[in-house]
Amino acid sequence: MVAAASSEDAAHTPRHVAIIMDGNGRWARQRMWPRTLGHREGVEALRRTVDAAGELGLDHLTVFGFSTENWRRPRDEVNALFDLLRLYVDRDLERLAADGVRVRIIGEREGLAPDILDIIDRAEARTAQNASFNLTIAFNYGGQQEIVRAARRLAEDAIAGKICPDEISADVFAGYLDTRGLPAPDIVIRTSGELRLSNFLLWQAAYSELVFLDVLWPDFDKAALEKAISEFAQRGRRFGGLGGA
Ligand code: FPP
Repeated sequence: MVAAASSEDAAHTPRHVAIIMDGNGRWARQRMWPRTLGHREGVEALRRTVDAAGELGLDHLTVFGFSTENWRRPRDEVNALFDLLRLYVDRDLERLAADGVRVRIIGEREGLAPDILDIIDRAEARTAQNASFNLTIAFNYGGQQEIVRAARRLAEDAIAGKICPDEISADVFAGYLDTRGLPAPDIVIRTSGELRLSNFLLWQAAYSELVFLDVLWPDFDKAALEKAISEFAQRGRRFGGLGGA
């Protein structure tokens, strides 16, 4: 039996890790393989990481699967990324459901093919009652676009008289985002050595610790996740205050 964590331990234990899974293309290029094989290997890394996150006691894992900017890639690569979402849900949904994982898919739904919308609905509905672990996949997602969509819905509610402008606070606004009900990420990891957020969780990452790892996403594993968590544990989070020390 594991001893109860002290409150100091708890302060250094993240609940929610979000990951920008970068470097699939470079991983494939190093092997002189097509980029799509890097993405395919990226799905294996995602599988490993979901398992590792549960083993390490996290409650939430949020990953960036397809950004609103990824539409600029060649059509074959875009199609391959959509195929990988289809494959992932087809192959893994029952196992995730049996393991108590709740799956959410955030991002813009408009413009997605009907079969992708069905897959998203199926994954969310099949796991809606689960609560042991939360996997959120950002797909056709952009942080700025999410904030604009939230602002639009809020404006509609204001016009309809459901909310008064004086009542709008950061908490109220967060309730209009795709991530409503989810805690903010404690850590945002980006793999592959790039040092950017690239439009990922712009609102939610306000106080997240950013951890940049040199590993390419297809090589990511439990040890890399542990490394990010131990880096987080060494940082002093003050949320704008002066901290306790
Ligand atoms: C960035 O690497 C990665 C992506 C654009 C896609 C991430 C997708 C996966 C890991 C596949 C799993 C996804 C789902 C939804 C199941 P990159 O192509 O930009 O790499 P590069 O910078 O080395 O070219």
